[in-house]
Amino acid sequence: MQDNAILAQTYADAGFVFPVEGVPEAEAQACLAALEQFERTNDARIESAWRARLFELHLLLPEFDALVRSPPVLAAVKQILGPDLLVWECNIFLKEPHSESFVSWHQDLHYLGLGADDQVNAWIALTDVTVANGCMRMMHGSHLQGDVGHRDTYAADNVLTRGQVVEAAIDEADATNVTLSAGQASLHHGHVFHASGPNRTDKRRIGVAIRYIRTSARQTLIEDDCAVLVSGTDQYGHFDLLDPPSPDMDDATVARFGHARNMREQIYFEGAR
Ligand code: NI
Repeated sequence: MQDNAILAQTYADAGFVFPVEGVPEAEAQACLAALEQFERTNDARIESAWRARLFELHLLLPEFDALVRSPPVLAAVKQILGPDLLVWECNIFLKEPHSESFVSWHQDLHYLGLGADDQVNAWIALTDVTVANGCMRMMHGSHLQGDVGHRDTYAADNVLTRGQVVEAAIDEADATNVTLSAGQASLHHGHVFHASGPNRTDKRRIGVAIRYIRTSARQTLIEDDCAVLVSGTDQYGHFDLLDPPSPDMDDATVARFGHARNMREQIYFEGAR
């Protein structure tokens, strides 16, 4: 059992903490199987661009809805944000074997329209994540610099929507490699500088980034944003609350997924070319 008070202090000092108890390996396997099945289907109700970019699957697949409600992850996040929690989004970051895909040094919060103290990123490994297959790398204490600004590069192989890079000096030697076993998680602050390298191995590297926010958080970039209540109660009503997916992926489930995807794209491509 992890000591969540120590975990919260480490998070406050470093801006990140790992390994955090995530899900049993069997649950990580169930998510992988659901993901692979989703990749094989050709459901005409779901746009091909949305099938390619694996965002918001917690609104479509029950296995990912269960993942964002993982009790030990929620217990850890509650230590930082308090008892009333929403999931604002859930994105899969997948690196194919021997792919050059990388993530440049960036801060997550820069483009999200959310307050710095209202949000925690959890990243749950569905496969083992190592230096060789491109684990996340983080700069200890960098969250204390606040929002440093970014430059858009649109570089090939950069996984980020606009290839954004922090406008700050980076010494790679100072970075911490966030290696995880399948099922383990890390937490990081939205202002922590982080990056990840290519996958040099024969297997896929897959992780799920979940953004938890306080129910009191506000969205400043668009009106009428949406989220999923996963802990406590929502006394604020700042976000439209979305129901979990139905096991048979009914039309209402697909409609909620489409609605959330549209909102995220409005935010992510705001001001991008
Ligand atoms: Ni990030």
